[in-house]
Amino acid sequence: MNHKILEEDIMDMVMDHYDNPRNYGKLENPDIVQNGGNPGCGDSLTIYMKIDDNDVVVDAAFDGKGCIISQSTSSMLTEYIKGRKVSEITELDTEFLKELIGKDIIIRRPQCSRLALDTIRYGLRNYKKKQKN
Ligand code: FES
Repeated sequence: MNHKILEEDIMDMVMDHYDNPRNYGKLENPDIVQNGGNPGCGDSLTIYMKIDDNDVVVDAAFDGKGCIISQSTSSMLTEYIKGRKVSEITELDTEFLKELIGKDIIIRRPQCSRLALDTIRYGLRNYKKKQKN
């Protein structure tokens, strides 16, 4: 019973982010523009981020076309990462996603669930690599 209520709450949140996406669009002068996609379905996503001198993500946005899960997690994650350190974000994993959207969605739709997080982490890792060179 409790499990069912929780699942309904999560689906309400997912649908809210899909219907009213936060941070949808491009950023002006982003430090990172990272494309991601799921070749299996053809969905694509671009994540934009601005990083300050303290390695904090000060702004984030996304655009692209995709399913409910990939779009809603892009909306949620661009909200979540703002104000957080790059090093903290690159450590986010499946356990974090489970807390965000529940394990049922991840089990049913693993690639959709991971697309936004993987794209963000990939973009941040590339950014750090370029900084070192
Ligand atoms: Fe394409 Fe979900 S169906 S990312």
